[in-house]
Amino acid sequence: MNEKELLVRKIENGTVIDHIPSGKGLKVVEILKVGKDQDGSVIVLINAPSKKLGRKDVVKIENRELTKEETNKIALIAPNATINIIKDWEVVEKRKVSLPEILEGIIKCPNSNCITNSNEPITTKFVVEKKIPLKLRCWYCERVFSENEITI
Ligand code: CTP
Ligand code: ZN
Repeated sequence: MNEKELLVRKIENGTVIDHIPSGKGLKVVEILKVGKDQDGSVIVLINAPSKKLGRKDVVKIENRELTKEETNKIALIAPNATINIIKDWEVVEKRKVSLPEILEGIIKCPNSNCITNSNEPITTKFVVEKKIPLKLRCWYCERVFSENEITI
């Protein structure tokens, strides 16, 4: 692909989250809480052509290296995403996201009667029953939820 065809340019330093399912890019940005306090630009490419996926979303975050914990959160909505760490224009690290077996304090239980939604100071905890399609079981109320029911 020559420079003329390149819709979004490369970045000098930061993180590129590639192979996000089409339409989920904005959700990834939301999860990472990137925005005006960021030291650099955030680029969200929606519906980019992809050889593997047909269409995909890509998120580029300048001057920020994501932690393992942050990338694991991305696995909730983009289980096949690739994390590319960029330094001096080069990809210095490439890793797949991976969903942990247990998710603590990341998502809210959708069950309003769950003890985690009461005034008790309890951190939410979910067991990953199934990765694709996502099924999470609340440790406390034992209800099972799918991706479209949870808020991250
Ligand atoms: N990228 C970038 N800035 C750089 C280097 C790479 O924005 N300085 C982006 C590329 O545009 C691509 C991703 O990071 O979206 C991964 O780059 P690279 O490993 O070079 O691409 P591929 O080999 O196509 O990656 P994969 O094999 O993971 O599909
Ligand atoms: Zn619950």
